[in-house]
Amino acid sequence: MIKIDYNFALKDIIGDKGISINEIEKLRGKSLEVHKRIIQEINNQKIGFYQLLNQDLVELKNKVDVYKQKFKNMVILGIGGSSLGAKAIYNALDKNSPRNLFILDNIDPDFFIDFIEKLNLDETCFTVISKSGTTTETISQFLIILDKVKNRFQQDFKERLIIITDPSKGGLREYVNNFKITSFDIPQNVGGRFSVLSPVGLVPLYFVDINIDKLLEGAKDYSKICLKESIFENPSYLTALIQFISFFKGKNISVLFAYSKFLENFVEWYKQLWAESLGKEEKFGFTPLKAIGVTDQHSLLQLFMEGPDDKIITFIKIKNYKKSLSIPKIDETNYYSYLFEHNLNEIFNYEFESVKVALAKRGKINYTIYIDMLDEYHLGALIFYFMIKTVFTGYLFKIDPFNQPGVEEGKNFTYGLLGRKGYENKKIEFENFMSKIRQQFII
Ligand code: PA5
Repeated sequence: MIKIDYNFALKDIIGDKGISINEIEKLRGKSLEVHKRIIQEINNQKIGFYQLLNQDLVELKNKVDVYKQKFKNMVILGIGGSSLGAKAIYNALDKNSPRNLFILDNIDPDFFIDFIEKLNLDETCFTVISKSGTTTETISQFLIILDKVKNRFQQDFKERLIIITDPSKGGLREYVNNFKITSFDIPQNVGGRFSVLSPVGLVPLYFVDINIDKLLEGAKDYSKICLKESIFENPSYLTALIQFISFFKGKNISVLFAYSKFLENFVEWYKQLWAESLGKEEKFGFTPLKAIGVTDQHSLLQLFMEGPDDKIITFIKIKNYKKSLSIPKIDETNYYSYLFEHNLNEIFNYEFESVKVALAKRGKINYTIYIDMLDEYHLGALIFYFMIKTVFTGYLFKIDPFNQPGVEEGKNFTYGLLGRKGYENKKIEFENFMSKIRQQFII
């Protein structure tokens, strides 16, 4: 299923720059405390995403089935934790559904307007996802779409809408209650970036026939391993400890190097989870960096090898591919004979192994998450692995991995500039700061 190889993080294999088992052992006491806190917070439901593993999907499926029968497209209006999870899983898997999913997580006008102009409204339903119900980007999209859909379909507009939001609070919930729109709850104890296994991820994924039962099954099965007390038996804890120790050795950039073209969006999901959860107090956190094998061997690898020694690299490697192809023997030339009859899968694997060893030989700390295959089950497991690893790492740093106070200032300035009531001072603050700017632009 999932196996983690951390040989190349260890001193006795990669040399002095590595980590010793003793350094990990020394954190046993602290780890036990963090483990107990996690178990307690699961039991008292502070960590809400754990409860999602046992949710009953019957009602969710019944409600979404109605939309599946009527529509060819679902458009997601949402951003951050409200869209990255579904996007990660949808783009990691084969697209076998007759229906399409479009995820609009940007209000870049040229992108958004172009998209909606080309969209066939008759065949499309819209799912608005926002836990707070206040996110400017999502609500702006919602208002534009609402107007369009109402103009076109009058009272039938409701049949084309789904809203996923907080069970009781916010403008979207109020809208659901007033207009009786089909809705799903995001449990109050599940934060945006931890919500992929809630209706936030499951509704869109089920619409395009992704096996959400398997997704939850994978997460549930792997949760048993990722919540084990013993650090050497728990992949989330052990790799969190490797990250934690590395941080104090100056490794504050955390590369997720996925050897899969299909995991690009999964790495984006991880980037948000890791950055927003751990970047706190102006001293903690790792800058997450996306790398995709083999492509970034020809882009970032030079930096990883010979740039500043400030990175820790997590590889993801899939063991079994769905397809296979051999390089044919070409009679006209012998120049490339070393490639003849080698399978593409074999070359991909050799390249991965070679890069890993080249980095290790230079003392660059890395470890590899091997997964058997890219399917719902393994993605569910991987999601749970990363979520618990993030919480564990946060608690090792003694920070709150569930909040994101740093994003509020920018949001508040935007409200001020938009003229939202109650944010008048933010506008003044913004303008005062901007008044320092001199006209010193380079043209
Ligand atoms: O992880 C988080 O909480 C955030 O990234 C949110 O998901 C993001 O800001 C979107 O928020 P909302 O779902 O309230 O629109």
